[in-house]
Amino acid sequence: MAVHPRPPRSVRLSLTDRCDLACVYCRPHRKDGYLEERLEDQAWKAMMEGLVRAGVRRVRLTGGEPLLHPRVVELVAHLAELALEDLALTTNGTRLASLALPLRQAGLRRITISLDSLIPERFFQLTRGGHLGRVLDGLDAALAAGFDEVKINTVILRGCNDDELEAITHWAWGRGITPRFIEVMRVGEGANLPHNVLVTAREMQECLAPLLVQGDAVPDPDRGPARYRRALHDPDRRVGFISGTSDTFCERCDRLRVASNGVLRPCLATNDGVDASLPARSGDIFAIERAVAEAWALKPDGRIWKGCTESTAAEVSMRAIGG
Ligand code: GTP
Ligand code: 5AD
Repeated sequence: MAVHPRPPRSVRLSLTDRCDLACVYCRPHRKDGYLEERLEDQAWKAMMEGLVRAGVRRVRLTGGEPLLHPRVVELVAHLAELALEDLALTTNGTRLASLALPLRQAGLRRITISLDSLIPERFFQLTRGGHLGRVLDGLDAALAAGFDEVKINTVILRGCNDDELEAITHWAWGRGITPRFIEVMRVGEGANLPHNVLVTAREMQECLAPLLVQGDAVPDPDRGPARYRRALHDPDRRVGFISGTSDTFCERCDRLRVASNGVLRPCLATNDGVDASLPARSGDIFAIERAVAEAWALKPDGRIWKGCTESTAAEVSMRAIGG
C-alpha cells in the first residue's frame, strides 16, 4: 500500500447495484443477487457533502444502472449545489428517453451511454434482452437535452462486435457523440470469458487508422483512463480507447468509488474498502472525511500495481461498484 500525497479528486458513486440488463462481460444472468443494504437518500446527501469536504471535486454517477434509482434527479440536483468541477453519469440508456431532460435541468453536465452494437439482434444477445431502439431513443433525448458532452462506451469482443468499430465510429461522429472503445477486462464476469475475446486497443487503433490522424492516443487532463485520437476529416471529432487489460493507468488514478451500500472503495481491482454507511446515516460529515482518508490509505501503489490485470479483479463485481 502506498501513502498518497493528494486526497482523491474524483469519485464514482454507484447509486444502485441493480441493473435491467445483463451484459455478457458484466453479469452471469439477469437473476444474480443484489446487495442487501443500500444507502437512503439522506445518507447519500451526507456522503456527498463528506466527500467534497475530503477534497473530491469531480463526481460520476454509476451503477448498476443509476437511472433505476427512483430519485436520481433529486440526487443530481443536490450534487449540483456542491462546489464541483464536474458532474457526469454513465448509463445503459434504457430509461434515458424520459430522464435526459430532467437530469440536464437538475444540473448534470456530461453523460456517457453504454452501447455495444448497432445491430438490434446482437445488442439483444450481448445485453441478454436489451432493446436497442429504447437506448437509441435515450441517446436522442440526451442529444436534445444539450449536455456539455455525450459519449458512448463500447466494449469490443472478438468475433462478436469487432466488425462494428468503423460503423459505430461514423455513426457517433455523425451525431456529435464521442465513441470510446474499451478492452474487455478480466473483472468479475469478464474473467469467465475466453481469453481470445480480448481485442487490444492497439488492434482497435489499427482497424480505425484510415480514419485517424497519426500519432499516439492522448488522455484528457482531469478525466478518466481513456486516450483519444482525432479524426482525419475533422479536428473536432475524436475517438477514445480504454486499455485496462493490455495496459494499466493506475499511476495517475485519483479515483475513489462509493458502492451503493456506503462502502468506500479505493480501487476497481480489489474488494478492499471502508464502510462509511454509519457516518453517512448519522450525517457525520467529519467522520465521512476520516473514512475517506482511511480508504485512500488502502489504495494500491500505482507504480507496481497492475490494476484490473491482477487476479483479485476476478472477484470484483463491476455491477456492484460501477465500471
Ligand atoms: P471521463 O472522465 O468522461 O473520461 O469518464 P470515465 O472514462 O471515467 O467514465 P466511464 O464510466 O465512461 O468509464 C469508462 C470505462 O473505463 C469504464 O466502464 C471501465 O470499463 C473503465 N474504467 C473506469 N475506471 C477504471 C479504473 O479505475 N480502472 C480500469 N482498469 N478501468 C476503468
Ligand atoms: N470489461 C470492460 N468494461 C466493463 N464494463 C463492465 N464490465 C466490464 C468489463 N468486464 C463497463 C462497460 C460499461 C461500464 C458501465 O462498465 O463499458 O460501459
